[in-house]
Amino acid sequence: MSNILVGVTGGIAAYKSAYLVREFVRAGHNVKVMMTKKAESFVSHTTFEALSLNPVLRENNTPTPISHIDYSSWADVCIIAPATANTIGKINAGIADNELLSTILALKCPLVLAPAMNTNMYSNTIVQENIRSLQSKGIYMILPASGLLACQTEGEGKMQDPDIIAEKVLNILNSENDLSLKIENDMLSGLTILITAGPTKEYIDPVRYITNKSSGKMGYALAEEAYKMGANVILISGEVNIKSDIPNIQKIVSAEDMYNAFLSFYNEADIIIMAAAVADYFPVYENKKIKKNDNELVLHLQKTKDILSYAGTHKKENQVLVGFAAETNNMEEYAKQKLEKKKADIIAANDVSRKDIGFDSIDNEITLFFADGSITHTGKQSKQDIAKIILAESAILHSEKNK
Ligand code: CTP
Repeated sequence: MSNILVGVTGGIAAYKSAYLVREFVRAGHNVKVMMTKKAESFVSHTTFEALSLNPVLRENNTPTPISHIDYSSWADVCIIAPATANTIGKINAGIADNELLSTILALKCPLVLAPAMNTNMYSNTIVQENIRSLQSKGIYMILPASGLLACQTEGEGKMQDPDIIAEKVLNILNSENDLSLKIENDMLSGLTILITAGPTKEYIDPVRYITNKSSGKMGYALAEEAYKMGANVILISGEVNIKSDIPNIQKIVSAEDMYNAFLSFYNEADIIIMAAAVADYFPVYENKKIKKNDNELVLHLQKTKDILSYAGTHKKENQVLVGFAAETNNMEEYAKQKLEKKKADIIAANDVSRKDIGFDSIDNEITLFFADGSITHTGKQSKQDIAKIILAESAILHSEKNK
């Protein structure tokens, strides 16, 4: 039984949300409803209180003084149906000028939107951009259907039927629960896990170097969580600004150092996770500081050794190898290519063009591509929770390989 928060905003489809609430209650879930003022001009809050058996969070009549916090922390999933163009735009802009929007901003659970509006409004570029932007932030959309709308126009914008919305919301809830159910506290005990983390630094001369934006947070989250789950952790780390109690940290500077450290330890690892942002090229090193003599300076770069590829070709049958793919576009295609080319078991791919996840942020959102063709989306979560999912999936694969 889960806690489902249903948000109703001001559109004629609000009457269908009564059926949605009834579907959830019939399926045995706890349901609470929140409504905007406009929504109440379409359907009375009494209808929702009778169906949900709970007080409705209303604009001018909140059940408690801090209902937006109480309702948001109570929810396991939140569905806004119908979601008007106005509410969609405000969520995307982070606006919290009513109780429903304030509750949404405080949510820690998955958020699902079921847009409903007139066809011209729905096809408006601004609305479409808002929808895409929210999807890229990990918010689920149950896109509208086509049909005859209440305004007597024919086209896209009709809210999906309540039974379809209910089924999709419950699927989202189950898939997120499945991932967390897979995690057991001691599932890595007795296993050795080698993790690479952080950036590499490639010196040009004694005072200058080339590096990248990696903070090392994802790799360290993996190492810390693996350690808590009972693993013997070997962390090979580039220079980062993170304090850690992991006993075995091999500190390195360059890609060459990381490769050498890797060679010393990879044989004893059961699971190898390559979260480091290793330089693809290094400059030919000048022993003395380069002087600025000419207008132009040409740096000659050579390819570094690809550690993940090396691990893939030298992998023992019972070892699990996980690589990362940081992509700005065509994520699925490139991740699948990497999986095959580098002979990894799992590629953890993320979209580094997004500002809310990746490099220096605390959250991340990863899609795991498995060698058997299956795919798992983590949704946006803290790097610690993402780390637990990656570790759990690796441990499951390891036990399958070692049956
Ligand atoms: N990697 C590595 N050794 C390198 C380069 C990368 O082990 N010399 C690992 C990273 O730790 C990561 C994965 O390979 O797990 C990333 O693959 P990579 O080919 O570096 O990705 P991109 O550099 O993004 O590749 P491309 O430029 O082809 O997109």
